[in-house]
Amino acid sequence: MKDNIIAIDKAHVWHPFDVLHADNICIEKAEGIYLYTSDGRKILDAISSWWVNIHGHANPIISKAIYEQALVLEQVIFAGFTHPPAVNLASKLMEILPFEVDQIFYSDNGSTSVEVAIKLAMQFWYNQSIKRTKIIALEGAYHGDTFGAMAVGERNVFSKPFQPYLFHVEFLPHYTCSEQECIAHFEQLAKTNDIAAFIYEPLVQGAAGMRIYSKELLSKLIAIAKEYQIVCIADEVMTGFGRTGKLFASEYINLPPDIMCVSKGITGGFLPLGVTAVNKKIANVFDSLDKEKRFYHGHSYTANPLSCAAANASIAILTSEECRKAILRIEQSHQSFLSQMLGHPQIKSIQSLGTILSIELNIGNETSYFHNKRDELYRFFMNKNILIRPLGNVIYVLPPYVIKNEELEEIYNAIIELLNLS
Ligand SMILES: Cc1ncc(COP(=O)(O)O)c(C=O)c1O
Repeated sequence: MKDNIIAIDKAHVWHPFDVLHADNICIEKAEGIYLYTSDGRKILDAISSWWVNIHGHANPIISKAIYEQALVLEQVIFAGFTHPPAVNLASKLMEILPFEVDQIFYSDNGSTSVEVAIKLAMQFWYNQSIKRTKIIALEGAYHGDTFGAMAVGERNVFSKPFQPYLFHVEFLPHYTCSEQECIAHFEQLAKTNDIAAFIYEPLVQGAAGMRIYSKELLSKLIAIAKEYQIVCIADEVMTGFGRTGKLFASEYINLPPDIMCVSKGITGGFLPLGVTAVNKKIANVFDSLDKEKRFYHGHSYTANPLSCAAANASIAILTSEECRKAILRIEQSHQSFLSQMLGHPQIKSIQSLGTILSIELNIGNETSYFHNKRDELYRFFMNKNILIRPLGNVIYVLPPYVIKNEELEEIYNAIIELLNLS
């Protein structure tokens, strides 16, 4: 049975970012921070299964919420109809999102939440008959794999085949320039009055290598954007729901966005769901009976009741005192490991924010999937039954909040062992 699954998978199932006919490990069940394989291994999920599983796997409260919702209403078209889980979730999000939200738009995942945000920002100007054609994004940005999201992401080998089809975006250098140069460049672009929107991953650029950047810089850029009425889009798909120590990374910055994208942790990693939240300034421009001004965007599973029920349950756990303490405990644990490792000869840089810990190894510069050591690093941790997916020469830990101190220690010890080997 197990061999059959693996054989069919290898022959016919296409996995993301991988070669065809790859060997994949079959997971039969998961609980808490552990994945259980069909051949008897127990793997510690140190990256919350691609940053989604904030409360660990098979959380019984979320499972029960989905089950109970499924018995009542599993799905209904969201055009012309609504339902309690979607409205309750919208109310909750309006309460916890760190800006004055006027409208909540549902979609299916992080990329679609970004597509919606970009389209809303573009149509915001179109509806007012104002010509603004450009978007600013940050050097190293990643916002997803659909076309709009790809266009506002750093151009690299992932997007190369599609390059001719991607719209023009101004990428703001902020690693390869000084802060003053970056700000001056941004201001120069803003002054053209042709910038429709500025999109950013607040404080942490995830796919770029869990790079934590200056909140002062980001605050200054947002302040300039506001001065020139540029629509600010905070992509909190990775940073949202407690990941950076606060509920949302935008809380570290005094200036609120106009649009925020959230997904990943929203359902506790149970079901796909994307949300694009907008303020009144944006919403007002669409608040019209004019058919030309309507936002024509929707997905079959928009506001799926099971996803919304999972999100409501996940947010209730997230906002509990127990979860807040767990996040703080992980943050302190990462900080103390960081202090212990500072100055290690094999470490180029080590950073931590909230529950994120990232270490850039002293083995070449390239933070890409194609770094020659990347697969070796991945295998090193997998041989110890720890799931860590290095981003090139960067290893990072982004655990479910239910991880215990001794389990964090196990990860840190494996990292130390790796460093002492090199
Ligand atoms: C900041 C950010 N935005 C958008 C996305 C895309 O989300 P999804 O993979 O759910 O489409 C990601 C995924 O890693 C992300 O990190």
